[in-house]
Amino acid sequence: MRAPSTNWREQVAPDEDERFARYAQGLVAAQRKRSAAQGEGRALHRKQVLALAGELEVAAGLPAHASHGLFASPGRHEVLVRLSNGAMERSSDRRPDVRGFSFKVFGVKGPNALGSGETTSQDFTMINHDKFSAAKAAEFAELVLALDRGPLAVLGHLVRTYGFFGALRHAKAAKAVITKPFTGFATERFSTVLPLCCGPYAMRARLLPPGGEPRPDARDDWAADLRGRLERGPLSYRMQAQFFVDEAITPIEDASVDWPESEAPWIDVATLTIAPQSFDDEAAKARQAKAEQGIFDPWNALAEHRPLGDVMRARKVAYYASQKARGVA
Ligand code: HEM
Repeated sequence: MRAPSTNWREQVAPDEDERFARYAQGLVAAQRKRSAAQGEGRALHRKQVLALAGELEVAAGLPAHASHGLFASPGRHEVLVRLSNGAMERSSDRRPDVRGFSFKVFGVKGPNALGSGETTSQDFTMINHDKFSAAKAAEFAELVLALDRGPLAVLGHLVRTYGFFGALRHAKAAKAVITKPFTGFATERFSTVLPLCCGPYAMRARLLPPGGEPRPDARDDWAADLRGRLERGPLSYRMQAQFFVDEAITPIEDASVDWPESEAPWIDVATLTIAPQSFDDEAAKARQAKAEQGIFDPWNALAEHRPLGDVMRARKVAYYASQKARGVA
């Protein structure tokens, strides 16, 4: 086990502004096609499974390296949660997919991560994976854009990029990401996967699920599964953080590495509680609409939690473009 270190560095490629703008443009073109068929929506994670009101309680007595930004002082914060399926289109919950768990923490105040003013909320965007499918944004963005053009385009892209055998390997790996078994939003772990600052340190964050038995029919309707569980009582997720120790073990610029717990242990930093709530009155409808039309963006953050690394920098451009295209930014 290593001590948390402030010795992390970002490496910005000279051509990345131009490339990231191109990925964002391609994503928006794909988004517009789907919006024409399905109505306004996000470029990715279009299907909102459920929006929930929650509360985040930051723990007291955190170690000095964790006590920055949102985690600087103990206390309770109102939270809006948006659960989603990752695909570019809204489709059945039964379809294998990456799942998203985003939440916006209110009641913070300070300079924002974009360096453009102040923020009064801190967003976390998590998925049900511990590492990203690609080391860099390029690999992911090119694949998503090929997916938009259909299976033949994907095949062409993979063969051109990796050669015939490399293409087979990459196709298999991409399939494994999408088809990773998922049992529900109350029974799976979610992670930011990628690093963000914690003051002068760098961290990743994750949520441990409340648990309970997975329901065999949950995959027909993830929202119904959660509503059923909430009828029986609150759901409580442990929020944990792990910290950068060394570029070789906990890289900032390679998103495909799962920082090893043996060297960078997870510690509890907060608890996210979802209390039983109504799902069929006006307040519930307003909550669903607020999340659907809202912004959940890793760059909606305190400067003390600025996102880090190539994939995070690409997301800055892509999320803003998607928000603009759906008319919320
Ligand atoms: C190059 C990499 C990535 C690109 C280009 C990308 C792009 C996008 C875009 C354009 C959206 C829609 C934004 C909006 O209109 O609100 C989105 C949503 C989302 N992405 Fe990513 N993404 C990337 C990587 C990731 C990673 C690594 C994670 C998680 C660890 C992630 C989690 C999410 C989640 C949870 C949402 C839904 C946000 C919401 O609920 O509003 N993405 N992504």
